[in-house]
Amino acid sequence: MTALILLNSVLPVTFVLEYSYLLAAIMFVIGLKLQSHPETARRGNLWAAAGMILPMITTFLFHRNPNGDAISLVNGMVVVLTIAAGGVIGAVMARKVKMTAMPQMVSFFNATGGAASAIVALIEFTKNPDQAVLVGLLGLIIGTIAFSGSMIAYGKLDGKVGDIFSKYMTWVNLLFMLILVVITVLILFGGYSLETRTYLVYGLLAMSLIYGVSFVMPIGGADMPVVISLLNSLTGIAAAMAGFIYQNEAMILGGILVGAAGTILTIQMCKAMNRSLLNVIIGSFGGGGAASNKEIGIIKEVSLSDAAVLLSYSSKVVIVPGYGLAVAQAQHLCHELEKLIEEKGGEVKYAIHPVAGRMPGHMNVLLAEADVSYDKLIEMDDINPEMPNTDVVLVIGANDVVNPAALDDASSPIYGMPIIKTHEAKNVIVMKRGMGKGYAAIENYLFYEPKTRMLFGNAKDSLQKLVTEIKTL
Ligand code: TAP
Repeated sequence: MTALILLNSVLPVTFVLEYSYLLAAIMFVIGLKLQSHPETARRGNLWAAAGMILPMITTFLFHRNPNGDAISLVNGMVVVLTIAAGGVIGAVMARKVKMTAMPQMVSFFNATGGAASAIVALIEFTKNPDQAVLVGLLGLIIGTIAFSGSMIAYGKLDGKVGDIFSKYMTWVNLLFMLILVVITVLILFGGYSLETRTYLVYGLLAMSLIYGVSFVMPIGGADMPVVISLLNSLTGIAAAMAGFIYQNEAMILGGILVGAAGTILTIQMCKAMNRSLLNVIIGSFGGGGAASNKEIGIIKEVSLSDAAVLLSYSSKVVIVPGYGLAVAQAQHLCHELEKLIEEKGGEVKYAIHPVAGRMPGHMNVLLAEADVSYDKLIEMDDINPEMPNTDVVLVIGANDVVNPAALDDASSPIYGMPIIKTHEAKNVIVMKRGMGKGYAAIENYLFYEPKTRMLFGNAKDSLQKLVTEIKTL
């Protein structure tokens, strides 16, 4: 306390606050930079978290209201207790969550961020209804859409909510967007009484909630990653808007960084999925789609010993990891298999599809956890030209990201999505439990190709048996 009083007398409060915000912004940027590589990502998270805590502490200690008063004891207690409760709940959830349920949790947390920004905007409107400004209303709209949209995304990823797809949804969504614009213009320029404007603000809130639902509801198939990333950037933008309302630089900077990073990721995802951003915003792509009528062949299985021999005596092997590898938690065994093949003289690379698994960078994180060397992870565009010279492709728990329907079946819901062209390799071994479908819930022609052989079973069990078998050779 004495130190605080001393600090207050030596340095002007605004100086401490402003510089702590600047320092926080620098820490966010360092955190983001470190997060771009699996080896440094953990440190990046710590930098970003420290950058978050610093302005929380300085705001708590040094912020003054317009009358120059510090936070009252009661309000201070409420803030501390709320932060403690949120912190404990968040930490317990993050510790308990299974790796495979991570995307749902990210969506859920994203929803809470959107809701927080929307609540800030709503409270500020009720406190100063005469000063309803565009930035506040945008914060309310964007935060609310991010909240309801992320909750639907959470439900979908968790299998609790299905797709509702109709060709009219595009028009319905456009109509909802138009209504949002009209209500905003009426609040700002309609010259209505306070009571009417209050009703309009609650109408805006309700409409934004509905639009968030109707925007995400029709999106399905393999397109969810794009929408999740977009919702994430919306939450960042909403937080920045809330920062403008409070004229808090740390919130503005943090929000802008999340918004910008999310937007860049969204654009990259769009590229990876071969979708236009406009389609994402209108919420019209993906969905059920017609099932293909293409003639499919017969399934051939491979025995463990044949698979072991093939892998042991191949000079070029490419492993394609997918969601099933994460479910089976077989990444360590996968690394062991890679080392065994290399000991026998083969070269092993991993083909990384940008949307393999259930979250951006899922396969990179999974394989980094097993200490797979980062330079062995080759991006889709770089590995595809090598496919015709690859002796064996081992597909482990991947499905949609290797489905050739994306290339040659215009009726397929994943048509147009770039894939890893495993069908161009000399031999393909697919490891999965049975004939279960992938996220897009469609048939995979790769499994019926003459050069493909299936090794059925849980990826962990199959890899264990394969490793044991190769060791005997
Ligand atoms: P999926 O297409 O989802 O296929 C995974 C396959 O793994 C399933 O066909 C399943 O077949 C198999 N599997 C499940 N558990 C297994 C286990 N224990 N052992 C062995 N196999 C197992 O995966 P993918 O190829 O990685 O594609 C990802 C899909 O998710 C894409 O459609 C993508 O758009 C979508 N998506 C991605 C993200 C991000 S950001 N990456 C987010 C949301 C959605 P069996 O049941 O027969 O075993």
